Amino acid sequence: MANPVAEIDLDRLRHNARLVMERTGGSELLAVVKANGYGHGAVPVSRALQQAGINYLGVFSIDEATELRIGGVECEILIFERLTSRAVRKTAEESVTVNLSWFGDLDILKNAVKEGLTLPKFHLKLDTGMTRLGIPWKDAASFTERVKQETGAEPEGVYTHLSTSDEGDLAFANQQLQAFEQAIQEIREVCSPKWVHIANSGAIVNMPDSYFNMVRVGMLLYGAHPSADMIDPLKIEPVMNFKGEIVLVRPVQAGTPISYGALYRPEVDGYIGIVQVGFADGMPRPWFERGVVMMKGKRYKIAGRICMDQFMVDFGEDEPDEGETVLIWGKDGENNLPIDEISEEIGINPYTLFSGLGGQRVERVFLNE
Ligand SMILES: Cc1ncc(COP(=O)(O)O)c(C=O)c1O
Repeated sequence: MANPVAEIDLDRLRHNARLVMERTGGSELLAVVKANGYGHGAVPVSRALQQAGINYLGVFSIDEATELRIGGVECEILIFERLTSRAVRKTAEESVTVNLSWFGDLDILKNAVKEGLTLPKFHLKLDTGMTRLGIPWKDAASFTERVKQETGAEPEGVYTHLSTSDEGDLAFANQQLQAFEQAIQEIREVCSPKWVHIANSGAIVNMPDSYFNMVRVGMLLYGAHPSADMIDPLKIEPVMNFKGEIVLVRPVQAGTPISYGALYRPEVDGYIGIVQVGFADGMPRPWFERGVVMMKGKRYKIAGRICMDQFMVDFGEDEPDEGETVLIWGKDGENNLPIDEISEEIGINPYTLFSGLGGQRVERVFLNE
């Protein structure tokens, strides 16, 4: 079977979760498993996290939450998307926690009350500088007061999202943190939210003052850092080994043009391996210029442009066997090619690389379930 394979090592995932828990002390860990668990497979990942004692998960949409419930996941689930009346109806069946992230969301709750629906638990999402979803933080207390008066309900949690916690200069992230702290103080005069959270992966590594009693972590769990600007990185392990099969080995002479644009020409007579993974599967196209793969502990250059379904590797004078696999990223025995290294080189963050992994052909194989 020559399909691309993403091996997902659930032991490494649990190991990473433990490291994050150690780093963040007593804070509750909300594991972010949106976008199919950052391409790792949301249901198996969530089940493994549940086994490891994680009680809270975050996804983007109500449909992602439904997928987890169908998959037997019992953790509390917070959804990040803008509130809809459809989600409010579904949450009653599936016990999912929603966001209030704009003033108009109150009308959705009020309509639900009128219809006699049980209101879902909700967290108040504040905007402190991301300018995406979120009630402006200065309006947080007055909005909470209105929600209380007009529906009788109070937020179970309050949170905001940081936009620069993974950057060298943390000045703006610290401004967001200060704004959040002030908003929390004001909200506490109106109600007592159980959960307060702001830290994402960048903040877990770079901003120890940001943990409050919950952290929302994605990328670190999957074994990569959000960027190279990490003050005190964790010893996380890559959860995914992305691999491709060599379906053809052909001898070539030095100077033979390879792939679109005829840009690559081997320097010596040797062997080219055709690997059955392409950009349609999530192989990053810009990675051809300085890109490598690994096999048997050695790095080999990617030869020429990545094609939609395949790419070529220059094995030089080493002759691989057809059917052997190359490691594209991850860590597997003597092969170690961190996704962070590829990200740095091509300027595409690991979030984009993981979530760009193709759906139809890439087989996810779960290890240590
Ligand atoms: C609202 C929210 N919280 C937390 C996270 C987790 O971020 P990270 O993967 O950097 O930990 C995300 C991811 O984008 C998010 O959208």
